[in-house]
Amino acid sequence: MDKRLKQIATRIKNKSLQKKTLEFLENPTVKIEDKTYSGLPLDLAPAGLSRHHSYPGGFVEHVLASTKIALTLCDVVESVYNGKVNRDLVLTGMILHDVFKPLTYEMRENGSYAVTPLGDRIDHLTLITSELIRRGFPLDIVHIVAAHHGGEAGPIYPRTVEALICHLADSADSQLNGEILRAARYLSQRATGIDLPKLTSKEAFEIVNAKVWKGWDGVKHAVEKMEKRRRVRAK
Ligand SMILES: [Fe+2]
Ligand SMILES: [Fe+2]
Repeated sequence: MDKRLKQIATRIKNKSLQKKTLEFLENPTVKIEDKTYSGLPLDLAPAGLSRHHSYPGGFVEHVLASTKIALTLCDVVESVYNGKVNRDLVLTGMILHDVFKPLTYEMRENGSYAVTPLGDRIDHLTLITSELIRRGFPLDIVHIVAAHHGGEAGPIYPRTVEALICHLADSADSQLNGEILRAARYLSQRATGIDLPKLTSKEAFEIVNAKVWKGWDGVKHAVEKMEKRRRVRAK
């Protein structure tokens, strides 16, 4: 199991919920008819095909980042608005909300991602919602996960404070990551003519910061450095 995911899961105080969550991370599979589906390993998987976190390791980065945002929102709710939040629900919801995305993606020979036959028939949200019910997770966790895309893009609006926090955290991190990737690809293409479809978030931030601090020459230099690093890695 990825150490970083395990570390967040061990922050869940309720022991039975922690155990169930750790078991899920150990075995993120689903059985339909007689077939058990397992996807890309969680530590290597992306968390999106193209819109956000669309690179190896993107899934874990998305869980880490959205959990941090969600916990900060918990602080705000409690310390500014005098509200009450159950952090165990928020932690579990954030860890598991996209855990079946890797089941719906596969890597093509050229390194790009495509939808699996399973993902072609059913989305990650329906898959995880039904599997959480099957594994006996509390209704409040099932709700958080079912509502994490919000009511416009998902089956139900968030109806609890914890579900609203998880939805906002998910959406903030997806947007942050997606905007940075798109900006970096655009800057690279404009400065050098090179398209960088498989940019990681770290590379993307490097390119965007290069533009902010050093202008177009900075972008050129950053992209050349990246290309060189990739050539060395490919050898
Ligand atoms: Fe999702
Ligand atoms: Fe997500």
